[in-house]
Amino acid sequence: MIKWRAPSPTAPTACVRSQAPFWSAAARRRLFLVGEQPALAGTLAWQDAERRGNLLTNQNYLSAAIEIAKEAGKILVEELPRPLNISYKGDEVDIVTQADKRSEQAIVERLNKYFPDHSVAAEEGTGKERSSEFRWHVDPLDGTTNFAHGYPCFCVSIALAQRDTLLAAVVFNPFYNELSAAARGEGATFNGKKISVSKIATLSTSLLCTGFPVRNRKASPNLQYYGDFTQRSHGVRRDGSAALDLAAVAAGRFDGFWEFGLQKWDTAAGVLLIEEAGGKVSDFAGNPYQLGGPVVLATNGLIHEEMRAVALEISRRPPTPVRH
Ligand code: IPD
Ligand code: CA
Ligand code: CA
Repeated sequence: MIKWRAPSPTAPTACVRSQAPFWSAAARRRLFLVGEQPALAGTLAWQDAERRGNLLTNQNYLSAAIEIAKEAGKILVEELPRPLNISYKGDEVDIVTQADKRSEQAIVERLNKYFPDHSVAAEEGTGKERSSEFRWHVDPLDGTTNFAHGYPCFCVSIALAQRDTLLAAVVFNPFYNELSAAARGEGATFNGKKISVSKIATLSTSLLCTGFPVRNRKASPNLQYYGDFTQRSHGVRRDGSAALDLAAVAAGRFDGFWEFGLQKWDTAAGVLLIEEAGGKVSDFAGNPYQLGGPVVLATNGLIHEEMRAVALEISRRPPTPVRH
């Protein structure tokens, strides 16, 4: 018999319009109580700590990241109804819009101002490498294709790593005002409420998610995986924003996610969200996932080995002929 979990009222519904009002007075009060404060108060708290010469905590970094993501989110919402100014990176469907650029400019400017010693790796190339063990991974607009078509499944994704350890992460969908956040060792939240991964324990009763690359599309093996996993689960969604997909696994809406060829800025924030929400992230061989690695498998932990076994079985089959 299938065991259903009660849908969590606080979790992000991948890309379904939220019924919750934008920051209500009650929501603000709740945020203050759980310590994840609205942008201004959060900024003052961490800037204060810095002024006093105190070491910044992961929570301080997170407050800064949240403030910056909200600022960038405002730009995306402002750009959404405007006439599109699209260009293509390369000759496929790798789109870039004015919104990607404006959002990145705002984020990078702010990070440079607050953390002038830190490296910033941002998708549109305006970040700077510095001799620091701290590096910010920035996707100023994850889900550009959705954005360009007016499908409101897109977000800002910002994460901080100290060498190989992720410290703070935020994924913000400004259209629905849905904010997922995590600080290492302090759990993950969705709009200020603690979240955890789902309890679905079998692949056959799971809801999965994946994505397809915008470059080298014909070389991607993913259609085979998509077909197989679709038949072995309750279904596989394809929402077009890897950062939001990972955030949805952290919140227990999806039970598992995989994708080939993602970049560091696509996954950095989502990986920390999932780890802090009690899930598991690896490659198909079961090794810990390295940012920018060829494939990521992110699950609630319970279906991880089953998904991995299926993925390995598919990978051993001869590839389907490529259509030219
Ligand atoms: C893309 C999205 C999409 C994924 C692509 C990414 P972008 O990022 O995350 O879901 O399937 O591989 O490139 O280009 O919208 O930032
Ligand atoms: Ca992306
Ligand atoms: Ca992007």
